[in-house]
Amino acid sequence: MKLVIENLNAGYDADVVLQDLSLSVEAGEFLSLLGPSGCGKSTLLKTIAGIVPAAKGSVFLDGQDITHLPIHKRGTTVLFQDIRLFPHRSVVENVAFPLKMQGVPKGERLHRAEELLEKVQLAGYGNRRPSELSGGQQQRVALARALAAKPKLLLLDEPFSALDENLREDMRTLVLQLKEEFHMTVILVTHDREEALSMSDRVALMFEGSLIQCSTPRQVYSHPASRQAADYFGNCVYIPGKVEGGRFTASGICFETDAADGSYDLMLRPGCLDTETEGEYPVQVERVSFRGSDLQVSFRASDGTLWKKTCPAGADWRPGDRMKAGLQIGEPVLFLRNY
Ligand SMILES: Nc1ncnc2c1ncn2[C@@H]1O[C@H](COP(=O)(O)OP(=O)(O)OP(=O)(O)O)[C@@H](O)[C@H]1O
Ligand SMILES: [Mg+2]
Repeated sequence: MKLVIENLNAGYDADVVLQDLSLSVEAGEFLSLLGPSGCGKSTLLKTIAGIVPAAKGSVFLDGQDITHLPIHKRGTTVLFQDIRLFPHRSVVENVAFPLKMQGVPKGERLHRAEELLEKVQLAGYGNRRPSELSGGQQQRVALARALAAKPKLLLLDEPFSALDENLREDMRTLVLQLKEEFHMTVILVTHDREEALSMSDRVALMFEGSLIQCSTPRQVYSHPASRQAADYFGNCVYIPGKVEGGRFTASGICFETDAADGSYDLMLRPGCLDTETEGEYPVQVERVSFRGSDLQVSFRASDGTLWKKTCPAGADWRPGDRMKAGLQIGEPVLFLRNY
């Protein structure tokens, strides 16, 4: 289902949280929503689902204006971080609950709930109480229950954040599989940048109630729309320089650009530092941290910038090592320096 949000304003009493927010999500698309705590991600999901009313603007699902439709008529389901299973009902009754609300007869709804439990790899657990399951199993029950209503738009609000890394990975795979099988459009709110970059067709970045960028994971990482967007993904390296007459120059770096004359910072990511081949960019190893599957090596360049780079665990770097590295700048990202 295609979701279109136009100039949406929403909030709580006098507090406006979402400000003229517009967003379009294609049918079958997987979109991740990232942003600092309190920027309005949950509020956006709740407004799409009808839990928080829109003060202004519109929400369309497949062309139908759902802005003022009640929650249960929207075809959207939200899965919250605190999963809120009914403690006194069995697992299968929990999953069947949305079907009960839809008036599906008992035999049929229990049968469908068992099928869904199978999908989330919990066949045979139907008669237990939620308290007799592990945290990860409870998350999967909640997911099965969210799917029972056959949502065309599934809204996931940090559903994996309480799980350990292995279980999170299993849940990610499961959600992606079910998304294909059920032909759903999915919006995932997460604080985990790698999760967002690896799972999504597009990533939307939100600050203070507004979207500041919405593009493919590669684009949002390599070509951030602003310094704020760049810093959100961390690990940026900024090299100060100047543009004069269509040329950017910094110590040891020079390339042509369309940017107007002025002082700029060239934004680079650690992957741009090529320590495998000899280049023109002198660096010295400052710190080496062993992290199990890899090393994090801090390189200090002669221009003062610090590069924290992930290197293979077997690499033989020691503090004090010097080399002339290469710089793979690709399509450069320049931010005007106004301080
Ligand atoms: N029920 C509420 N009543 C009043 N204000 C609220 C309510 N829920 C959220 N807010 C406020 O609205 C703003 C946005 O909150 P929201 O929960 O949407 O943020 P978020 O981006 O989901 O943050 P987090 O990443 O911490 O979950 C915050 O300033 C928050 O304090
Ligand atoms: Mg939230």
